[in-house]
Amino acid sequence: DNAAKRMPITLHLASPRGFCAGVDRAIKIVEEALARWGAPVYVRHEIVHNRFVVDSLRAKGAIFVEELDECPNDRPVVFSAHGVPKSVPAEAERRNMLYVDATCPLVSKVHIEAERHHANGLQMVMIGHAGHPETLGTMGQLPEGEVLLVETVEDVARLEPRDPDRLAFITQTTLSVDDTAEIVAALKARFPNIIGPHKEDICYATTNRQAAVKAMAPEIDALLVIGAPNSSNSRRLVEVGRAAGCSYAQLVGRAGEIDWRALEGARDIGITAGASAPEVLVEEVIEAFRARYEVTLREVHVADERVSFKLPRVLREDTTRAA
Ligand code: F3S
Repeated sequence: DNAAKRMPITLHLASPRGFCAGVDRAIKIVEEALARWGAPVYVRHEIVHNRFVVDSLRAKGAIFVEELDECPNDRPVVFSAHGVPKSVPAEAERRNMLYVDATCPLVSKVHIEAERHHANGLQMVMIGHAGHPETLGTMGQLPEGEVLLVETVEDVARLEPRDPDRLAFITQTTLSVDDTAEIVAALKARFPNIIGPHKEDICYATTNRQAAVKAMAPEIDALLVIGAPNSSNSRRLVEVGRAAGCSYAQLVGRAGEIDWRALEGARDIGITAGASAPEVLVEEVIEAFRARYEVTLREVHVADERVSFKLPRVLREDTTRAA
């Protein structure tokens, strides 16, 4: 019989993995906006970086655009979880549009820090990835030239601040904890008076997902990270896995992308999912393994998460909905 011939493997499931509170809230915002105001609801940028999520919201009536000038004035628009430059809500207001900001509250917190330092006359250094929407959004809180971007330790040496004693730094929320610590150390070495956050801006979800990968790394032969190629935190999980010694660590969008040939011989496989990847995709991957192997599941639990965020006020008000 077929089952008897199947090779045994153990799937080590990272816990926590997958959706964070900011992603969960952003998706609910689009769903609630559709329920209140009907379709179409416009969404500026992928609400969260996951094709599966975007496609299912599109099926319910969301229209995804990259810029506000692609939206009509008379339909609601939602800004993605990554945050937006100040110019975007300003433009929506100028056009009298109904907008809902789904920026993660932990990203908004960084925006507020940046503004506070700017008000105190400090120039900002942002540790982040060039071109990522969160970086664009955070840098776009302050006037041009007020936020200097660094991506690497080498970039720190190239910085040309206005006044090396009047600096503060902030970070993207989804960076590698270890790489960021090195960059922060380089900043402090070059600019001893630089001011930083009490605790780094990397969020709890990023930190916990990376910690779970590190915890399982010594026990696994291969790591699969379920997530999208444009998802920063998912890509960092692959890097963290490799840095922790997994010779095979790959990003997969869903089960159909698994390279089974590459996994031949692996007996212990780690599975995690980026903060924007829904649990159904993890289940799909587990099922794909069950179809080929005799699977044992093992949870690698490193932290409990009880964070949740309220919806914006405009979606909490108890208004009568259209029938
Ligand atoms: Fe927010 Fe962190 Fe998720 S910043 S959107 S809780 S990855």
